Amino acid sequence: MNGTLQTPAYRPDFSGRSVLITGGAAGIGRCLVLSFAQAGARVIYTDRDSETGEETQTILAEQGLSAHFLQADLSDQAQIERLARQTKDLAPSGLAVLVHNAAIANAHSAEWQKGRPDPAIWPEEEHHQHPAGRIGRPADIAAACFFLASPDAGFITGQTLVIDGGMTRKMIYR
Ligand SMILES: NC(=O)c1ccc[n+]([C@@H]2O[C@H](COP(=O)([O-])OP(=O)(O)OC[C@H]3O[C@@H](n4cnc5c(N)ncnc54)[C@H](O)[C@@H]3O)[C@@H](O)[C@H]2O)c1
Repeated sequence: MNGTLQTPAYRPDFSGRSVLITGGAAGIGRCLVLSFAQAGARVIYTDRDSETGEETQTILAEQGLSAHFLQADLSDQAQIERLARQTKDLAPSGLAVLVHNAAIANAHSAEWQKGRPDPAIWPEEEHHQHPAGRIGRPADIAAACFFLASPDAGFITGQTLVIDGGMTRKMIYR
């Protein structure tokens, strides 16, 4: 089991705050679930894949952490409504943070759309084509979510934050 998934070094305190993460069973979403749970949040995560959702439960338990997993396919209106009711029951005071990770879209390349969150599987040339010198890690996204959801970002009311190692700036993939 991937109990060594890297999470951000930066860790605000989310104690007692309820956080909902969509697509939380795998990849970036799993990293978000783990990150927010490590930061003390009451984490609810949802995914259409119950098998990987349960795997995430095991990874959390290995670290002495827990979160609520709610299976739902977000392309189905009835399941979204059921998810909303279940979330309200679990977080009656409301959510402090919603990370809609399952809906993050990026049209830069087919490879990105496929989603390949483990840097270990990328050849060196893929790392070097990025101005930052490496490809992105799930923890890069989690760190940005931490910041935007934390009181440190209390004077930011809306931004588009590009997290791509400089690739958009470079404008071209090999
Ligand atoms: N990994 C990348 O390089 C990259 C780059 C740009 C954007 N993104 C976006 O970031 C998000 C996460 O990427 P990832 O690489 O972790 O993807 P991933 O495929 O590894 O994980 C996505 C998770 O969302 C779940 N999911 C997908 N559709 C769903 C639905 N309709 N209802 C419920 N759950 C659903 C999947 O079951 C999966 O667990 C995605 O939206 C992806 O498009 C990723």
